[in-house]
Amino acid sequence: MTTLDVAALLTQDRQHLLHPLYHPADHAQPHVWIRGSGVTLTDATGREFIDGLSCLWNVNVGHGRRELAEAAAEQMATLAFSTNYAGSANVPAIRLARRLTEIAYPNLRAVFFTSGGAESNESAFKTARFYWKARGRPEKVKIIARQYAYHGVTLATMSATGIPGYTKMFEPRVPHFVHTVAPYAYRFEGVKPGESVGQAAARMLEETILREGPETVAAFIAEPVQGAGGIIVPPDDYFPRVREICTRHDVLFIADEVITGFGRTGRWFALDRWGVQPDILSFAKGITSGYVPLGGIMISEPIREAMLSVPYADRWMHAYTYSGHPTCCAVGLRNLEILEKEGLVVRADRMGPRLLAGLRALLDLKAVGEVRGLGLMCAVELVADRATKAAFDPGKNVIGRVKAELEVRGLFTRTVRDILLLAPPLVITEAQVDRIVSIVRDGITAVLPDRA
Ligand SMILES: Cc1ncc(COP(=O)(O)O)c(C=O)c1O
Repeated sequence: MTTLDVAALLTQDRQHLLHPLYHPADHAQPHVWIRGSGVTLTDATGREFIDGLSCLWNVNVGHGRRELAEAAAEQMATLAFSTNYAGSANVPAIRLARRLTEIAYPNLRAVFFTSGGAESNESAFKTARFYWKARGRPEKVKIIARQYAYHGVTLATMSATGIPGYTKMFEPRVPHFVHTVAPYAYRFEGVKPGESVGQAAARMLEETILREGPETVAAFIAEPVQGAGGIIVPPDDYFPRVREICTRHDVLFIADEVITGFGRTGRWFALDRWGVQPDILSFAKGITSGYVPLGGIMISEPIREAMLSVPYADRWMHAYTYSGHPTCCAVGLRNLEILEKEGLVVRADRMGPRLLAGLRALLDLKAVGEVRGLGLMCAVELVADRATKAAFDPGKNVIGRVKAELEVRGLFTRTVRDILLLAPPLVITEAQVDRIVSIVRDGITAVLPDRA
C-alpha cells in the first residue's frame, strides 16, 4: 500500500468513521493496522511494533492464526448463523458451553453467550436481579462496584465503571449502582492499625453493604485484577475475605474476567490464584482471542436452579440475536484448543514473572513509582515525586510523550493516568519480553533524562 493511499484513507476515516473514546486530538496521526503475526503488528507505513497490550487485552494466542480463520470459514460454509433462542440450538455453542464448564470454576455449570464484555456484565446484573426475584427477595437490586473499575460503557455497565471520565458527558448514571474502594495498595488510604490493605478494602466493602442495607444489594462485581483502571493487583488476603463477606450478606459475587480469563494471569481464570469461586463469571475477549466477537456469563447451580424452577410467566426474558453464534463459538472452541495444546496458560505463568522482574529493575529510575503485575498483566506507574507519589503536571503530557518514545522504538501499548499498561500475547518469547523491558527503560529515559 502506498503512502498516498494511506493519506486518502485517513481523509475518509476523519470524514466518516467515529472511533471508541473519540476526540480528534487523539486521532491526529492514527496507525492504520494492516497485518499481524505472533506478537507483531504492522501498520500501513510498513513499520512493525510489538503488540504490548494484545490489542485490547484480547489477542491471547497472538496474530495470524490460520487455524482460527479456517475454523470460522468451515463453520460459515456449513451454518454461518442460526437462532439460539429457546427451542433452537447449534453444535458449536453446545460444545463450547460444555468445554467451558470443564475449564472454569467447578461451581459454574451453565453458560449464556453474548457478543462482548459489556453485554456479559449487563447479563450478569440482570441475572443477579432475576435470581433474587425468583427467590422472593425482589428488593435486592443494587450492584456494588469499585473505584477504578472498568465494566463496559453501555448505560448500566458505565454506571458500574468506576472511572469518572467515562460518565461525565453521559450522566445521569443508572440508579442503584454504588461504589466502594479498590484494593489499590500503592495509593490506598484508610488502613486501621494492625490491618492490611486487603483487609481494609474488604472491610470497606462490608461497610458499604451494611450502609446500603444488605436486603437491597443484589451483587458485588469485581475484576480479579483491575485492567483499564491501571492494572491494580489485589493483595492475597483480599478476595478470600470478599467471598466470605458476600456469602455472609447474601450478595452474589460477579467476577468480571473479561481481561483476566483464558490464561492472561497464568491461570485459566484469575480467582483460582486465591482459591475463590464467584457466583457469576463474566467473560469475553480471550475466549476467541479477538478473532470474532464473543462473550458470555457462567452461573452457579443455585442460579441455574432458579431459572429452571420459576413459573413460565417469570421466565428469564433475556436475549441477544447473537447469543451462541455458531461461527463465533466454533472459533472459541478452536482457540481454547490452541491455548491448551500449546500450553499458553502455563507460558503466561512463566513469562509474566520474567516481565515483572525485568520491569522491577526500572525502579532505579526516579520517575518509576511502582511496578506491579500478575501473569502477563504488568503496569509501570510513573510519578513526579516518589516520596509524595505526586502525579506529573497533566499539561506536560509526560505519559503521552513516553508512549510516543515507545512507539519510536517499536512498542505499541496503552496508558492510563501516568501508568504504562503491558499485556502482550501469551505466545511471547523470552527475547521479546526482554525487548519490551529495554524499550520501556529507553522510552522513559528519553522523556525524563534528568530522572534516570
Ligand atoms: C474488565 C472488562 N470488563 C468489560 C469490558 C467491556 O468489554 P466490551 O468492550 O467488549 O464491551 C472490558 C473492556 O475492556 C473490560 O476490560
